[in-house]
Amino acid sequence: MGPHPVTVRHDPALKAFASDNYAGVHPEILAAIAEANGGHQIAYGDDVYTEALQDVFRRHFGERAHAWPVFNGTAANVVSLRAMTAHWEAVICAETAHIHTDEGGAPEVTGGIKLLTVPTPDGKLTPELIDRQAWGFGDVHRAQPRVVSISNTTELGTVYTPEEVAAICTHAHGLGLLVHLDGSRLTNAAAALDVPMRALTTDAGVDVLSFGGTKIGMLYGEAVVVLNPEAATGVDYLRKTFMQLSSKMRFVSAQFEALLSGDLWLRNARRANAMGRRLAEAVSGLPGVEVPRPVQANAVFAILPRDVTERLQKRFRFYTWNEATGEVRWMCAFDTTEEDVDAFAAAVAEELA
Ligand SMILES: Cc1ncc(COP(=O)(O)O)c(C=O)c1O
Repeated sequence: MGPHPVTVRHDPALKAFASDNYAGVHPEILAAIAEANGGHQIAYGDDVYTEALQDVFRRHFGERAHAWPVFNGTAANVVSLRAMTAHWEAVICAETAHIHTDEGGAPEVTGGIKLLTVPTPDGKLTPELIDRQAWGFGDVHRAQPRVVSISNTTELGTVYTPEEVAAICTHAHGLGLLVHLDGSRLTNAAAALDVPMRALTTDAGVDVLSFGGTKIGMLYGEAVVVLNPEAATGVDYLRKTFMQLSSKMRFVSAQFEALLSGDLWLRNARRANAMGRRLAEAVSGLPGVEVPRPVQANAVFAILPRDVTERLQKRFRFYTWNEATGEVRWMCAFDTTEEDVDAFAAAVAEELA
């Protein structure tokens, strides 16, 4: 028997608005994986692709940056936060933070990390909001605040500016706290503001970054990026302890190189964000649709009548964000086209009529 071709089991033309993770792999990334194939390379990260990767990350995040590829974003967060805290220390984050709401408890259960959460109006922490949990230093009865973790873009689709991140870092550092940034969508945030990624991270004072590749065109792969070497210890060991040491790491590193060495990350993020704006504009004027949050990157939140949501979900996949209010989330990806957005907006209008 010869090679067995894969049967295509889905319609490649069909797009969803559920998550940027529904998208496939950008062709330039797939090509990079194919180019890195063949022959043998040292396993577990001692390959030439992973070595070259450090230069790529340093170009974006500065001379002190060091990146450790991992499999997914939850792991990037858990490894980062564990490397920044001792057993008795805790992490302050927004109540809506992915580490709190969407990681199956991994920071607490797998990482053993106590989270101290703060309600926010828009998914963003501020120095004042940090102070709601930054207390009890020296009290043996209280898990000791050690890290402030923020996400950019946030889980509510909002974007922190460089000034807002810098204000958080200055405040946190003044209290003796470190700053972690969940950059699962850092590329979208930087593209939305038209600033280099280092303006939102290294230059603003962020200590450790979880950098996201999967949502912006990679097959899989995220990275723990330590920006301040004094802020994290043992990442080499923790990555293995938390089962994140890829044996064939060259293929993760080659993807990052394809994403970050040119402008692919920016092209993809600009496209996803532009499609988010287009969708928001298309549905905003429709009677019966409320867009309750600012659309600053690739996520659009909307409140619709429930029966409309149910009918629409039979045609396009997307998630209900809040069952109580009927708020839904529509997410655009790097491969969402204007035609996809227009077809979806037309379907919203049809179901409302
Ligand atoms: C803000 C944020 N952080 C982290 C992640 C990474 O999660 P995963 O473990 O699914 O790669 C996601 C994915 O949805 C996210 O939205």
